[in-house]
Amino acid sequence: MTTETSSTLDPAVDKADAYTDARRRIDALLDGETDWIAAMATVACELHHSFEHYDWTGFYRAVADDHLIVGPYQGPHGCLHIDFERGVCGAAARTRETQLWPDVSDAPDHIACQSSTQSEIVVPIVTPDDRLLGVLDVDSDTLGAFDDTDREHLEPLCRLLGEQFGNS
Ligand code: SME
Repeated sequence: MTTETSSTLDPAVDKADAYTDARRRIDALLDGETDWIAAMATVACELHHSFEHYDWTGFYRAVADDHLIVGPYQGPHGCLHIDFERGVCGAAARTRETQLWPDVSDAPDHIACQSSTQSEIVVPIVTPDDRLLGVLDVDSDTLGAFDDTDREHLEPLCRLLGEQFGNS
């Protein structure tokens, strides 16, 4: 007779559980926080160390109507500047829609800050009054690392960040 629980048999359940745990820690750490940079640094750290499929985890800040500059991140160095018209991050900033690429070689204008990157998810962070604060970018060296489970947990997190730090 097996003693394994259903979650040990289902990687999607494990991933969802890890997101729930990470979110609980993030909510506690950000409770009452008003400093946007401290928040970005904390979220990047918590997410990056919660998932083996996260190899670059961080933020690009919208500093103009058409330009992103890197913010707090974990992982190897990232590109410092990205115009809205370029790359997966630019597409997320421009469209304000999550960009989910299981294989970045399918993304027409993916910017390879690291040649090891194989898949990527980028989620925009928008305030309740419709200003773009930036994007959360996660890259993986594993093909097909991101799916709807990642989207379903990262989008509400980014919505919360937009609400809590909308005055930043
Ligand atoms: N791959 C991103 C660039 C950012 S880095 O990967 C950290 C893009 O295509 O926008």
